[in-house]
Amino acid sequence: MDGQEQFEALIAADARVEPRDWMPEGYRKTLVRQISQHAHSEIIGMQPEGNWISRAPSLKRKAILMAKVQDEAGHGLYLYSAAETLGTPRDRMTEDLIAGKARYSSIFNYPALSWADMGAIGWLVDGAAICNQVPLCRASYGPYGRAMVRICKEESFHQRQGFEILLELARGTDAQKEMAQDAINRWYAPSLMMFGPPDDDSPNSRQSMAWNIKRFSNDELRSRFVGMIVEQVQVLGLTLPDPAIRFNAETGRWEHGPLDWEEFREVLAGRGPCNSQRLARRREAHEEGAWVREAAAAYARRQNATEVA
Ligand code: ACO
Repeated sequence: MDGQEQFEALIAADARVEPRDWMPEGYRKTLVRQISQHAHSEIIGMQPEGNWISRAPSLKRKAILMAKVQDEAGHGLYLYSAAETLGTPRDRMTEDLIAGKARYSSIFNYPALSWADMGAIGWLVDGAAICNQVPLCRASYGPYGRAMVRICKEESFHQRQGFEILLELARGTDAQKEMAQDAINRWYAPSLMMFGPPDDDSPNSRQSMAWNIKRFSNDELRSRFVGMIVEQVQVLGLTLPDPAIRFNAETGRWEHGPLDWEEFREVLAGRGPCNSQRLARRREAHEEGAWVREAAAAYARRQNATEVA
């Protein structure tokens, strides 16, 4: 069997493709695109919550939030490593990000305005991330699927801590309950857009699904997520800002009201509420971190020299 036949046999058997296996250029490119975008999302995603660490209402909340933001950094690193196994160096991915040439998730271009947003981000944003990412644990590319297993475990904890923040606020004073509701109202639609454009406007889905990278379409996953949160919001005693949500027994899917896809396109074009702030912060952090990279490289050189001697 030649490389192409071997690859096709692996995909047909729903088995894993590993870094040294032959793969079509399109498969490699699709993976680098998706995995690097995912890694960038984790790294940029540290910002909305990182901005709240010093304002968390107690020492315990600060410690939890700090650990969560550190987890996001770790997720970014596993994912950059997975993308590197496909032959694209991490430096190049970082350069593309800070030059504004790479995509990262639309969701992180929205501002986190109150403490309740930490709850809404954990519950809705990490909840949407889990819904999207659990099927990615079975992605055909081995290093990606394996990285996702660990990431999903940590995301589950993140979602619970977000839900718990909202639950405590929802059981608090009227002002606290209102703050929780306001955060849900603002994060609901952007979290639904995380799943990507509607299926008939998703150019990459068909091929990604044929290659067993994506297992479900954008709309299928979005509908599952709506079904999940529509139940959970009742436990909070709060509401979702979407009176059109309903279960369609004929299709077996949850349906939601219309989403503003023009807003989504604007965010993707770099014109969302926080795009320029997020990129400027990332660029600044990269420049400020230059001495750490230099020191680490010098240390590695010295270690190598000692081993050789
Ligand atoms: N934010 C930014 N860009 C998006 C988003 C989004 N929410 N959804 C889709 N896009 C982009 C795609 O990257 C693609 O752009 P490109 O072709 O220039 O790369 C374009 O819109 C068209 O979309 P699709 O054809 O549907 O793209 P794809 O098949 O890659 O599906 C999806 C998009 C669902 C986001 C997929 O890439 C995916 O599952 N990625 C892994 C999960 C991930 O990245 N999560 C990040 C946020 S979660 C977190 O970090 C906590």
